[in-house]
Amino acid sequence: MKVLVTGGCGFIGSHTCDYFRREGWDVVAYDNMTKFELKRTGYREDAVRDYNWNLLGELGVERVREDIRDLEQLLDRSSGCDFLVHTAAQPAVTISMEDPLLDLSTNIQGTVNVLEAARRHNIPVVTCATIHVYGNWLNQELKETETRYVREPAAVDENAATMRGNLTPLHASKAAAEHYVKAYIDTYKVRAASFRLTGLYGPQQFGGEDHGWVANFSIRNVLGWPLTIYGTGKQVRDVLYATDVPTAFHAFFKNCEPGIYNIGGGPEHAISLIECIRLIDQTTGKPSEIQYAPDRHGDLRYFICDIHQAKTKLKWEPQVRPAQGVPRLIGWIKENRSLFST
Ligand SMILES: NC(=O)c1ccc[n+]([C@@H]2O[C@H](COP(=O)([O-])OP(=O)(O)OC[C@H]3O[C@@H](n4cnc5c(N)ncnc54)[C@H](O)[C@@H]3O)[C@@H](O)[C@H]2O)c1
Repeated sequence: MKVLVTGGCGFIGSHTCDYFRREGWDVVAYDNMTKFELKRTGYREDAVRDYNWNLLGELGVERVREDIRDLEQLLDRSSGCDFLVHTAAQPAVTISMEDPLLDLSTNIQGTVNVLEAARRHNIPVVTCATIHVYGNWLNQELKETETRYVREPAAVDENAATMRGNLTPLHASKAAAEHYVKAYIDTYKVRAASFRLTGLYGPQQFGGEDHGWVANFSIRNVLGWPLTIYGTGKQVRDVLYATDVPTAFHAFFKNCEPGIYNIGGGPEHAISLIECIRLIDQTTGKPSEIQYAPDRHGDLRYFICDIHQAKTKLKWEPQVRPAQGVPRLIGWIKENRSLFST
């Protein structure tokens, strides 16, 4: 079996390559290695950029430095594959606001090219959407406790309203890409799925303020750098540990039920920013230095996925709770401290 993973040198892409190698598959990581978001993290960009590339080389993954916007390359490199996993993206709200055309070409044109490769090669494909496609209408329906926002019912399923509230170009590009997934399923019978992913975290994530908040907070605590909370810190997500994502991709390959799925931790994995920082502080044994700033445009205060559909149709469910996953992430950061700061 052979899989091509777009964005294979990114966070979730690298875990996906690792997972399928361990399952005995041939794996191609297809990545243009731009990594725009690294520029704003303050980490050692040169060392961080190559980290996953080198890791994948050691795992026997074929690495291809190409762009998903180049259809001919994508068709050529995916020829002979049994499965496409599409993780390449412009994933940050902030960058989408600064460069909406980059966001559009990467997230919409890039995704349509990947769907086209799946159609022409007649192979299944899974793409990464985000819970941002729901918009942020949930911001209006919340109560508060000392540490988190709460809502009844707690979890939101795939039939809930999408794209309501205050939107950014990232909302638009991710939702448009997802519409194309459905269009390719309906029109061409492509065996495709769009996974609406929630907040992901784990090793190999170089999270900054733009993207990857659990990693950002953990890295800053370990390095002794201050961190910024935008808003109250009571924002809630059902976070999902990195190794739980490739098992969902594989579950789709095995069960091949096309459609749109929430892929998150569900209510049992929900945590607020304040609660997450407390867990980080407990794990490292030192308090985080916290600064507060106002909410940012487009910020989502609350989201917990209802993952019932993924459990029944894909027979998938997450395994790693935050109390286990956050210490593992921190262990990796400590081992790789020199990547972040000299
Ligand atoms: N990390 C999260 O918390 C989260 C949450 C919800 C959804 N998602 C989605 O999951 C997917 C993976 O996210 P991630 O955190 O692993 O992102 P990431 O930024 O770590 O990885 C994306 C990879 O795509 C590559 N890439 C960007 N543009 C490309 C192009 N034009 N051609 C080829 N490669 C390109 C980058 O170099 C990078 O290695 C994205 O679609 C993202 O929107 C992530």
